[in-house]
Amino acid sequence: MTFAVVANLDDLEVGDTMLVDELSEPICLIRLADDDVRAIHNTCTHQQQPLHEGTLQDDDTLVCAAHASRYDLTTGEAVGPFACGPIPVYACKIEDDAIWVDLDQQLNDAPIPRPPAPGTRGER
Ligand code: FES
Repeated sequence: MTFAVVANLDDLEVGDTMLVDELSEPICLIRLADDDVRAIHNTCTHQQQPLHEGTLQDDDTLVCAAHASRYDLTTGEAVGPFACGPIPVYACKIEDDAIWVDLDQQLNDAPIPRPPAPGTRGER
């Protein structure tokens, strides 16, 4: 269990997303409310585009900017077309205006999204 500070709360407005790229996996932070920040893997399961470019919806889902795959930010489940599976959701907390993420605590069993191996695109 290794929480790390990844951002300051002041740098992430409610409704906004942010890329965190200094951990072992790229993470997308999403601030749902004053005291509610979620952390998901930043790689869309459809065609591996970055999810921090997506848009938060009123139902606490995030829509990928590339082709509109949609992910539930609590369960990581894909709730729309295109996505090839759920997105990993990680433990995230706020303490003293700092946002902490623990990649060792994945909150669902979604596989880590990876680009397809060369020559295998479309064979899944
Ligand atoms: S890459 Fe995200 S919807 Fe296609």
